[in-house]
Amino acid sequence: HLAKPIDGPLAGKKAVVTAGPTREALDPVRYISNHSSGKQGYAIATALSRLGADVTLVSGPTSLPQPAGVNFVQVETAVQMLDAVKSELPSDIFISVAAVADWRPAEPSDVKIKAKTTKDGLGSITLVENPDILKTISHMKGKRPSLVVGFAAETNDVEDHAQGKLERKGCDWIVANDVSGDVMGGSENEIAIIKRDGIERLPRMDKSAVAQNLALRIAENFSTIKA
Ligand code: CTP
Ligand code: CA
Repeated sequence: HLAKPIDGPLAGKKAVVTAGPTREALDPVRYISNHSSGKQGYAIATALSRLGADVTLVSGPTSLPQPAGVNFVQVETAVQMLDAVKSELPSDIFISVAAVADWRPAEPSDVKIKAKTTKDGLGSITLVENPDILKTISHMKGKRPSLVVGFAAETNDVEDHAQGKLERKGCDWIVANDVSGDVMGGSENEIAIIKRDGIERLPRMDKSAVAQNLALRIAENFSTIKA
């Protein structure tokens, strides 16, 4: 693996990246979750590290190996992911790539729920909202990272939905991600980087190339601030 450059453009900067899905238990053997391989988030953590950043990757369950050269924190649930991110602050950069489960079962069972709970079957499951990690970090007083980047995976009206999320979440950039094709679990991605003052569309490319492009934009952002 490539050694981390001590003099890269992001040397001295700390970055926290979330990746993968979260997993919300119904009982000890069942859960609700999202499709997410973790590939894009892991590639972003690696790309930032290669530019010299001190990177912590907070990951939900994936089947990927831990990337070399980054600090790795394993979590399972959205609540754990938020706690892990908070405990990494202060940080200069936060990138929220994780596919966080929007809800969790209100009262997970300590014992396995039997398939035939009643004569009518299980009935319904009460869900409660999970914390919005990106929104929470974006609105943090005092400890807010100076660059907060969210992702918006959309199947339709991609840029409109992403623009709405930029406003609602209070982040600085949203990376709009068209998942209408075979992107989920695949090795390629097609993104647009939406900032408050404009949008940059990138062609479809390998997830590691997407990560390098994003990491370079982040490095440019910090060099502009310094100048
Ligand atoms: N996100 C988060 N915590 C949540 C939900 C989402 O941090 N509980 C982050 C994701 O990591 C991503 C961004 O918010 O960076 C957008 O996630 P997305 O699921 O597209 O947005 P939602 O607001 O949950 O809207 P919806 O699922 O209805 O499209
Ligand atoms: Ca969501």
